[in-house]
Amino acid sequence: MIIARAPEGLREPVDAAGRLAGVSLVYRLDIGVPVTGREHFGFRDGISGPYLVGSADQPLPGQDAVQPGEFVFGYPDESGTPPKGPAPDVLGRNGCYLAFRQLHTDVAGFRRYVRDNARSPEDDGVERGIIFVFMGASLSRQFEFVQQVWLNDGDFAGLGTERDPLVGDSDGSGVHVIPATPVRRRLTGLPRFVTVRGGEYCFLPGPTALEWLATLPDPAGEPSTTQPSTQPTSQPSSRPEDAPWRHPG
Ligand code: HEM
Repeated sequence: MIIARAPEGLREPVDAAGRLAGVSLVYRLDIGVPVTGREHFGFRDGISGPYLVGSADQPLPGQDAVQPGEFVFGYPDESGTPPKGPAPDVLGRNGCYLAFRQLHTDVAGFRRYVRDNARSPEDDGVERGIIFVFMGASLSRQFEFVQQVWLNDGDFAGLGTERDPLVGDSDGSGVHVIPATPVRRRLTGLPRFVTVRGGEYCFLPGPTALEWLATLPDPAGEPSTTQPSTQPTSQPSSRPEDAPWRHPG
């Protein structure tokens, strides 16, 4: 991923990436953030980020503090010990897993549903959505848990079959109850607002791992141009978490 504050800032790093020996572009998707700074449904995103213990920042008042091992390998996580990363250790250090999802958002359908017709555009055929990126030390304990339990299993909060009304895996029969006094509001027949267009499970190596990878022999038989590493050369672990994954949709 190459990220810049403005499109002009992308040109140089994209060109430089194209010149890297042994690296080829597998997929390119140019994306930006709406000028409103909000995602397309109209909500501000990215505000509940925790404070990363040991980072250069200062925690904001009330901000949750989370141990670095929840995000990158080689540091203690919330259990007090470093999480088990891919082997050998040099591959994991400062690296993390990354789940990527290209999510289509049905903005017109959402606005129709909430009956905001004054501002509601007809479906203009424009592809709108978000690129969702999870980065952390465990795909199953973190990303898949949030996806399966917080988004799609109301039971965890005593809400029975209710799913997340916006992002949940709705089939058109969804229900969402908005607590209110004296009478709560019950929404029914919730349609699907978010559709997965594609995705991938990846491993994001840290700088040390990249240097180590560069010392490995070329699978095509070409000798490496850099000095061989003194680090162990066992293969990465074959835990299911490490396997590349492509969404069937
Ligand atoms: C089109 C799809 C999605 C939209 C429009 C969306 C939008 C939002 C918004 C507006 C917030 C609140 C702002 C914030 O707390 O930063 C939020 C929070 C969050 N989202 Fe999403 N999201 C989407 C998909 C997902 C997916 C797929 C996951 C996980 C699998 C996810 C996990 C979370 C989590 C964990 C929070 C923070 C909740 C909290 O700590 O209170 N989101 N999202």
